[in-house]
Parts: sequence; C-alpha cells; structure tokens
Amino acid sequence: MKKVVRVVGARPQYMQVPILKQKLVEQGVKHILIHTGQHYDSIMTGELAQELGLGEPDINLKVGSGTHANQTAQIMIRLEAALLEIAPDFVIVDGDTNSTLATALVTSKLRIPLLHVEAGIRDFDRDRPEEINRILTDHACELNAAPIPRALDNLRHEGLADKSELTGDLLLDNFIHFETKADSSVFKSLGLKERGYNLITLHRPENTDVANVLRFKEILSFIAKTGLPSVFPFHPRITGLVADFKNDSSFAPIRFVPAVTYLQMLALVRGAQTVFTDSGGLSREAVWAGSKAMMFFKVDTWHDFLERGWAQIAKGNHATMEQALDRLTAAPPMASQALFGSGRASERIVQMLRSKGWI
Ligand code: UD1
Repeated sequence: MKKVVRVVGARPQYMQVPILKQKLVEQGVKHILIHTGQHYDSIMTGELAQELGLGEPDINLKVGSGTHANQTAQIMIRLEAALLEIAPDFVIVDGDTNSTLATALVTSKLRIPLLHVEAGIRDFDRDRPEEINRILTDHACELNAAPIPRALDNLRHEGLADKSELTGDLLLDNFIHFETKADSSVFKSLGLKERGYNLITLHRPENTDVANVLRFKEILSFIAKTGLPSVFPFHPRITGLVADFKNDSSFAPIRFVPAVTYLQMLALVRGAQTVFTDSGGLSREAVWAGSKAMMFFKVDTWHDFLERGWAQIAKGNHATMEQALDRLTAAPPMASQALFGSGRASERIVQMLRSKGWI
C-alpha cells in the first residue's frame, strides 16, 4: 500500500484536503495528515477540520507563530523527524505559506518526491513572503499541479514544463462540494439580508501591519462610504488593530466580528453584494459564487479575473477605489468555473499521479 503525507499549516491549505484525500483513499493509498501548527486558533484548525469531516490530524507539529525564519526552521526540524519515521512514498503540499516552503526544503533533502498543488501562481512581487515561497517550492518539488493555464505558462517560462501539468483548482472542487452545506444561519445571527451587505476580509501585511495602518483606514473609510452595512470577520492576526477601530463612529456601517467558520463564510460569500478582500482564495470563491470581488492588492494578480471584469484590484487612493467599484458594478455577474477545471482537479491530480507511477 502506497503512503502519502499531506502537509497543511494555514487555514486555506486545510480547506483543500478533503476531496483529494477521498480520491486517494479510493485508490487504496494510505493518507497521513500532518498539521505544522502554523495556525493554531480553534477556528483556523480544530473547528475547521470538524466542518471538513477530517477529525484530528494524524500529527500536529505545534510550531505556532514566529518570525519567518524561526517558523520555517521549526517546521523543518519537526517535519524531518516525522517524515523519517513515517517514510512515505510521496508528500503533497499546497499553496505558498511558510509551511509549504519548509515542506519543500525538507522533502528535497530527504529525497522524498513532492507534489506541489496550486503551483505556478505568480504576483511578480518579491515583497510578499508568499511569492518567494511559491517560486522555491515549484523549483524544488518533483511534480507541479497548476490550477489555471496562466500558472502553467509561468512554470514553462521558468523551465519547469517537464514536471508540470494543468490540473484545475482544488479549491474549486472543495468549494462545489461544501457550498451545498453552507451555514445560512449566519445571516440571522448577524442580522444580515442576502445581497444587502458587503463582506470584508483583510489580513495581509501590506494592508494591516502597523506601518500600513493608514492604508487599512483608507480602505475601511472607502467601504463605509458605500453606505451598505458591512460585516468584517477578522483574522486573529489583526485582533489588536481591530480593537483600535471598532468603536470609531466614522466606520459605523462596518461590523467587526471574530473569524467565522468555513461553512458560515461560504454562506456570507454567496449572499454578499460585494466582497472586499485581500485573500486570493476568498476572491476566487466570491467569483465562483456569482458575487463581485474587489481585491486590495498592491500589484495586479489573478489577471484572468481582471481581464474578464469579474473582479477589480484597488491599488490606489479613494478615487481609484471608486473607479474600480464602478467598473465592478458594471461587469457581468457570473463567471465560468471552466477556467479553474470545473471541479475536477482532484480527479486530474490522481490521473497525473498514476501516469507517473506514484500510485
Ligand atoms: C498565512 C500565510 C498566508 C495565508 C494566511 C491565511 C505565510 C507566509 N502566510 O498568513 O499566505 O494567506 O496564512 O490565513 O505563511 N495568529 C493567531 N492565530 C493563529 C495563527 C496566527 O493569532 O491561529 C497570529 C499571530 O500573531 C501570528 C500572525 O497571526 O504571528 C501571523 O500568522 P502566520 O501564520 O505567520 O501568517 P498569516 O498572516 O496567517
């Protein structure tokens, strides 16, 4: 029996586990889940795993927070010991977090084959820790699963064509599966009317770090001026920042609430008039759900959305945010999911693993 280790660390990585796990188990593969402990709050780990039907991870490395070097190094040391003991046939890791990079470094030194899911995404902005994590992982691993054609093009340009395939986006497989279970009770508990509110999430350093507090304020005052009630479930990393703003009457239409569960978030995304976010995952889910997404990124990214008008990027000041929102309002609402593999990414990943003789 082949043994695979799937490594997760951050919430969005956890969300991508269930469907591919199920497909691998159907193929007779033994699936071992290692959580690095990069995220540790219950809403980001335990409660999430329960909603996803995953139960406890087989191993939790419990690294917690730290500087990038510290966190990455701690994951490496603990993951190396775990992998030496388990001796898997191969490892799978998703995305671009510090847990992703640590996994790539450890597996490449141990000579354990690694499949990188969500490979080839590029922002072309090295200020973002995720960009360097992705580039190094795409180069270190043995197989790359690209979610969209543009990601495969990026991998080809970097000379990685031989080990890269277009599979579709695993997040969409999970989105399609879990959307039917979305927890609509959240509308009642938060007093919201469907299509009568904005949804906000901001957590990236470029929008929320102490040094960028003016940017945070600018974004919030822009959203507050739209006049529509807005709900802002906040990531634990910005708890301190939110405490400074939540009683400020100039942001009155914005209601700050602690992070909600994944199934509540799916309901909120689907019911929102506009989703204001700096999360790549949430913007994709918003577009797939037929909502409008306005992304607060420093650089253009997810170009396929921008070109089709399904989402807009608001880089600059209030005036450019307003223009972006006008463009967004005028754009056609529903996006095709075909560009992202129509929910068949897990199937294609399994096919790829079989064709390479990994399973
Ligand atoms: C990480 C990923 C980011 C991803 C995000 C999803 C990296 C470099 N970044 O960012 O790509 O979009 O996860 O959520 O890996 N904290 C808590 N509780 C937790 C986890 C974190 O309070 O459960 C706080 C701590 O103060 C911590 C800070 O959040 O220092 C940052 O957490 P970290 O995991 O390092 O990065 P994220 O911002 O969550």
